[in-house]
Amino acid sequence: MAYAPTDELLDRGAELAELLGLIAEVDAGSGRAAVIEGAPGIGKSSVLTAALAQAEAAWFDTTRARASELERDFAFGLVRQLFEPRIAKANPKLRDELFAGAARHAAALLGSDDLPDEGSPPEASHAVLHGLYWLTVNLASEGPLALVVDDLHWGDAPSLRFLAYLVNRLEDLPVLVVMAARPFEPGAETDLIDELASDPAARVIRPGPLGPDAVRGMIGAAMAEDPDPSFCGACRDATGGNPLLLRELLVTLTDEGLSPNAKSAGRVQEIAPRSVVRSVSRRLRRLDPEATEVARAVAVLGDGSDAGAVAQLSGVSQGTVASAARELVQADILRHDALEFAHPLVRAAIYSELPAPERARRHQEAARILANHGADEDSVAVHVLMAEPSGDEWVIDVLRRAARRAHARGAPDVAATYLERALSEASGRGERERVDLHVELALAELDATRFEGLSRLRRALELTDDASSRGRVALLLGRSMFSWGDLAGAALVFEDALEHLGDADPELRATLDAYHLVAAIATPGLADSVRGRFEGLWEERDEVTHPILLAGLGAAGAQIFAPAGKGADLAERALATDEISFVDDPAIVAAAATPIMTAGRLKTAERVYDGAEAAARRRGAVFPLGLAWTLRAAVHVRLGKLAAAEADARGALYVARSGQLLTLVFVVTSLIDVLIERGELDEASGLVDSYGLGGDLPNFVQMNYLLDSIGRLRIAQNRLDEGVAYLRECGRRLEAWGTSNPGFVPWRTNMAPALAASGAREEALQLVEDEIELARAFEVPRELGMALRAAALVEGGDRGIALLHEAVAVLEGSEGRLEHARALTDLGAALRRGGHRAAAREPLKAGLDMAQSCGATALGERAHSELVASGARPRRLVLRGVDSLTASERRVAEMASEGLTNREIAQALFVTEKTVEGHLGHAYRKLDISSRSELPNALVRQPAAAAA
Ligand SMILES: Nc1ncnc2c1ncn2[C@@H]1O[C@H](COP(=O)(O)OP(=O)(O)O)[C@@H](O)[C@H]1O
Ligand SMILES: [Mg+2]
Repeated sequence: MAYAPTDELLDRGAELAELLGLIAEVDAGSGRAAVIEGAPGIGKSSVLTAALAQAEAAWFDTTRARASELERDFAFGLVRQLFEPRIAKANPKLRDELFAGAARHAAALLGSDDLPDEGSPPEASHAVLHGLYWLTVNLASEGPLALVVDDLHWGDAPSLRFLAYLVNRLEDLPVLVVMAARPFEPGAETDLIDELASDPAARVIRPGPLGPDAVRGMIGAAMAEDPDPSFCGACRDATGGNPLLLRELLVTLTDEGLSPNAKSAGRVQEIAPRSVVRSVSRRLRRLDPEATEVARAVAVLGDGSDAGAVAQLSGVSQGTVASAARELVQADILRHDALEFAHPLVRAAIYSELPAPERARRHQEAARILANHGADEDSVAVHVLMAEPSGDEWVIDVLRRAARRAHARGAPDVAATYLERALSEASGRGERERVDLHVELALAELDATRFEGLSRLRRALELTDDASSRGRVALLLGRSMFSWGDLAGAALVFEDALEHLGDADPELRATLDAYHLVAAIATPGLADSVRGRFEGLWEERDEVTHPILLAGLGAAGAQIFAPAGKGADLAERALATDEISFVDDPAIVAAAATPIMTAGRLKTAERVYDGAEAAARRRGAVFPLGLAWTLRAAVHVRLGKLAAAEADARGALYVARSGQLLTLVFVVTSLIDVLIERGELDEASGLVDSYGLGGDLPNFVQMNYLLDSIGRLRIAQNRLDEGVAYLRECGRRLEAWGTSNPGFVPWRTNMAPALAASGAREEALQLVEDEIELARAFEVPRELGMALRAAALVEGGDRGIALLHEAVAVLEGSEGRLEHARALTDLGAALRRGGHRAAAREPLKAGLDMAQSCGATALGERAHSELVASGARPRRLVLRGVDSLTASERRVAEMASEGLTNREIAQALFVTEKTVEGHLGHAYRKLDISSRSELPNALVRQPAAAAA
């Protein structure tokens, strides 16, 4: 009597009811996820299948994928199983719709093979995740969608990252994600699975052991006679109520011809297989040897393999494969519909009985067979990874190509796995012959934020003899160090590379040279070593054409040589060549924009970063986008656009998880600046602490922005000595470097009033005098106005009032609105104190208006109370309209007013549509409007302080 399994699910009423509930919630428009968790054989896949049927019955569109033990290193294997069939089914028009908007970043991954052969887009990993998310959104636009994923514990990391990304953003997408996983599977991506299971949108469902009735039901279905309760009890004890073990037991018992009566009950314990391995091997022994070979071949090749490949690997004809498969189905080893095991444990049983060397040999054979069958590199690579290294040329080649593909598709971690293997395949060769592999691996490591990539590049550098190749490796290494903020290290790498390169490769030489100069001149200990060359080049600057060199000359020149506009001109020339790509070389664009900013051409600098932002968005490059925001925030602060500065800085913090010190320093600096102007000093102080920036700060040029901001913060907190100490340190470092442009950091101005307040009036006066002179020489009106204002504060009296008049006049001609507002307010206040109450009102009103339009709350409050003291009756200070919007509300509202749809905004900002709707809703309420068309008007600020 053959064992006849039942399709009926027993004892799963509660689980299925819970899933039905989720389906109803998704149907009503809220995205949901569930993780079915439990030991092998407990019935996870069966519950998944039932859930799939339920979803189909509710008219969901469904798609299913299953991870396999073999394909853990198959980049996006699960994702491709989920989506490829859907894409393949779509006609060209639908396909265009599915890949519309940000979903295009997923197109290369799914189906179309028109990938560039060389290199990989930076940030592919995030762009692809984002693209897959939007593909899911597009798929769900016609109706609810269920994604069903089995055996998550074997999922490849890139796919799991996508699932986590999606589940985290389900919100009100009509999408149901149901997944099944074993809880303690060795080698699983536990962190990612935990992340999925602990998401608030996800439910964890744990099917329990079968109860007595269910056990009796299964026995009843399998055996002709009505089972005796004692027999049922014995079966339940022997299997712990695990349906798979029970099934295996019943197969054995029916094989033995036992009846389910009380007499047999005593024998159950003794017959019961200790494990699936035992019962499977027992069954196999009874089959033809060919059937065993076929089963082994399927175990090695993996479920669902091609019959031809199975025939070749097992060394039998295709006809024999077919008859063996039938036998194996009879023995409950394979499923009836495909070359697929009845259960993963059955596969594991057969696989584990093969001795390890034999397994490895068969995988190697499988790799060769698949390669000959024209399988793609990923499928071949999977087997290569399971074989022993052979050192074969074609194996290395396959791994390399698979790595390149994985890297380009946003899975640098998988690429690294392949390349590590390629390196050990090539271990027979000399280190020098493996340099290219080391370089490729290092780049994959760096993209996967694994810092050993840097030391690997270093080693590759040592191993490279050829001057040009060496120079190229050095360029990669130096650029990575540069963008991770290690300017000094980068400068040394470039210097050394130049020495080795000689005159071999003029173009490369020019690039290395440019980088060297840019890095060295910005590094305090090294600046002197290049100063002479720098000055020589500066003299001949009209001759210079190399864009990187121009940017570097401009950057340093504007800080050292007056007027600053000369450096800014060079930088603008560099950018005008259109040869510098922000996404590929953000540090150089930043280097070029800095002199433009520090020469006071703030709106130009803002435009440069607007362009950078747009470029980063186009390529879906998140970290460059974060960097564009980071740098633009500083420009916005100077322009007095505080809300925009905050939106940029907070946006950057959100995407900059990478912990690049440079980025962090800039972001925190701008946030501190914004918070000081808002009077939120505790929060600003908290930022310094929470990012650990309170102690000694490393000495590189950009750090001076932070020193200055913390100094001003401490002064605003009335911790004068501390504040002065920060600014002194800032000044000491800048002077050591040779920077005297106050447009970089006006540290003298910023510390003078505090110095005077703590009694050092002479020194304060000297400082502002110097600063006024410098600001005149460098032709930076914003900083000149600031210095005049500081001088006024130190001097006081009528002389002070005269200086403030002068400051206001100078600032009128600058782009620094916030500083203008500050000078106006101080002028009004000084006039009032000097007894000129009527004359005080006009500058105070203007100062108040301007401060409010900048979002400078603290200054606004001051101007307001001065105005009251001057006898005017200004309107009460309440946050209204535009000023009351948070940074994100404002950014979203501005984009909406430019005509972007919610979806476009969401795609551009890497958030969900729900988030956009939320911000927009708040903005409407605060702006007191009810439609999008009213936004452009509402976002124009109404004059705030129309005084009576
Ligand atoms: N509730 C159930 N009632 C009856 N049979 C079940 C039940 N759950 C699972 N089975 C059977 O047990 C075996 C293992 O179930 P499966 O869903 O593959 O487990 P898992 O995915 O947890 O390893 C399958 O043959 C399945 O038909
Ligand atoms: Mg399963």
